[in-house]
Amino acid sequence: MASTNSSASFYVTTPIYYVNDAPHIGHAYTTVAGDFLTRWHRQRGEKVWFLTGVDEHGTKVQRAADAGGVTPQDWVDRLVTADWLPVLETVNAKNDDFIRTTEERHIEAVQRFWEAVRENGYVYAAPYEGPYCVGCEEFKLPGDLVAGNGEFEGQQVCPVHGRPVEQLQEENWFFQLSAFADQLIAHYEANPQAVQPVSAYNEVMSFLRSGLVDISMSRSSVGWGIPLPWDEQQTVYVWFDALLNYITAIGYGQPADSEAGKRFAEIWPANVHLVGKDILRFHAVYWPAMLMAANLPLPGKVFAHGWLLVGGEKMSKTKLTGIAPSQIIDHFGSDAFRYYFLRAISFGNDGSFSWEDMSARYVAELANGLGNLASRGTAMVNRYCDGKLPAAGVATAAETALSDQLVAVVAEADAAMDELDFSTAIVAVKGFVDAVNMYVTEQEPWVLAKDEAQAERLHTVLYTICESLRAMSVLYYPLMPNTMAELWNDLGAVATLGSIDDQHIGDVAHWGQLPVGAPVTKGAGLFPRLEEVAE
Ligand code: ME8
Ligand code: MG
Repeated sequence: MASTNSSASFYVTTPIYYVNDAPHIGHAYTTVAGDFLTRWHRQRGEKVWFLTGVDEHGTKVQRAADAGGVTPQDWVDRLVTADWLPVLETVNAKNDDFIRTTEERHIEAVQRFWEAVRENGYVYAAPYEGPYCVGCEEFKLPGDLVAGNGEFEGQQVCPVHGRPVEQLQEENWFFQLSAFADQLIAHYEANPQAVQPVSAYNEVMSFLRSGLVDISMSRSSVGWGIPLPWDEQQTVYVWFDALLNYITAIGYGQPADSEAGKRFAEIWPANVHLVGKDILRFHAVYWPAMLMAANLPLPGKVFAHGWLLVGGEKMSKTKLTGIAPSQIIDHFGSDAFRYYFLRAISFGNDGSFSWEDMSARYVAELANGLGNLASRGTAMVNRYCDGKLPAAGVATAAETALSDQLVAVVAEADAAMDELDFSTAIVAVKGFVDAVNMYVTEQEPWVLAKDEAQAERLHTVLYTICESLRAMSVLYYPLMPNTMAELWNDLGAVATLGSIDDQHIGDVAHWGQLPVGAPVTKGAGLFPRLEEVAE
């Protein structure tokens, strides 16, 4: 049986998003979460692989192209170039690869995969008749639909899209999903961390225990897709094409001694598949069953996060309720965007975006909290010490309390990151920022500076502030790469300690790294005051 291995690279994926329309902040949310997680692991000194991409086939994309009056290939090329690739820059994602399902490397490997699964005896021809939601690109089961509201009153609708489903009748090829029910249950009983949060785990287990039925792996009425190698009249069902991106992008199906083949051996299985809760069943039931059918190892974890809501409903391309990431980032900057969504919404829960809430946190936590501390600290070293970091004298209880707290904060943040509990990790660091701000208020370095006899004490306080900022900049760098690189530079750390990319989380709490004499510059202000915007 396929098993979960620990891989040499920490491999994280986002869903590959449908290119029926441009990205909104829901897509950016998953991508930013994956980016924060993988940057954190890189900062631990680990080997990391972060994959994202786009899902280009299927009815939904086909219909969007038809409505736009162009071929599906033109449609996806245009959207990927104009919107989906640029949004990665907009949110400052550092992905290692970007997969498109229209790429040859994917198409070839998908065909090879299904050929192998068919040879293993898990594919057979049969008619499909039943409901299908094009918004979800999903064959719906009897228990999946709910009563409609408003214009759809009296009809059964998809619970995600709130719209009636279509009735399909097709001659298809089926994947023998039912063969894997017992193995899946056994796998998740033995590995409860493999689906998180607990609510998602429970949902998956109850779905598995209710019994699995076989499912179409091909479509006879959809032209925009990957042809089945043994039946060119049919295309691979879009989900059974898309899920495979997680292995096709890293070299599945390539010769073991080729570069791609070696990469696959090193990187697979994934450590974490990040998904929204809308696509949990595909990732936690169908995907591992497919892998079992092909004798491949299973991923370490599927984490299903919550939804960004608009008016209490999931923000969605289909419902045209999306907010473009640039609408927020043009105003607040990408770091504040990254900070806000991962700090304000507990990962796994739903959350709403509000301009007011984001403005309030920007001012209180970033501008006044962290930004003000950084500008006060660097400004005082310039004013009182000619911009050269002074030597600390004897530490008092106040300094020891901070360096002790830092040890605890690093441990807490690091442990929270292992749980994908991003807000707890962020709040731990924020607790340290607050403590150092309190320290500055209590020590009153501007008063010490007026008394020549207190020079050593002043130097101790200034050193403590800058050394604390050094630690904050590394801890927050995976979350806010632009501003923290700027702070690292302002502290004179580039010149003395080297690139911030080379600093390790495990060393952050070692006190006394910034050398005496480091050239500290008063920066331009990390989080500038923003103009009020009428929304
Ligand atoms: O499902 N809140 O693509 P998709 C939070 N192509 N996250 C959201 C969100 C919201 N309101 N809206 C979207 C597909 N997302 C398939 C995936 S994977 C092999 C194939 C995020 O364009 C979230 O990660 O509908 C969600 O699962 C994903 O985008 C769905 O994107
Ligand atoms: Mg969707």
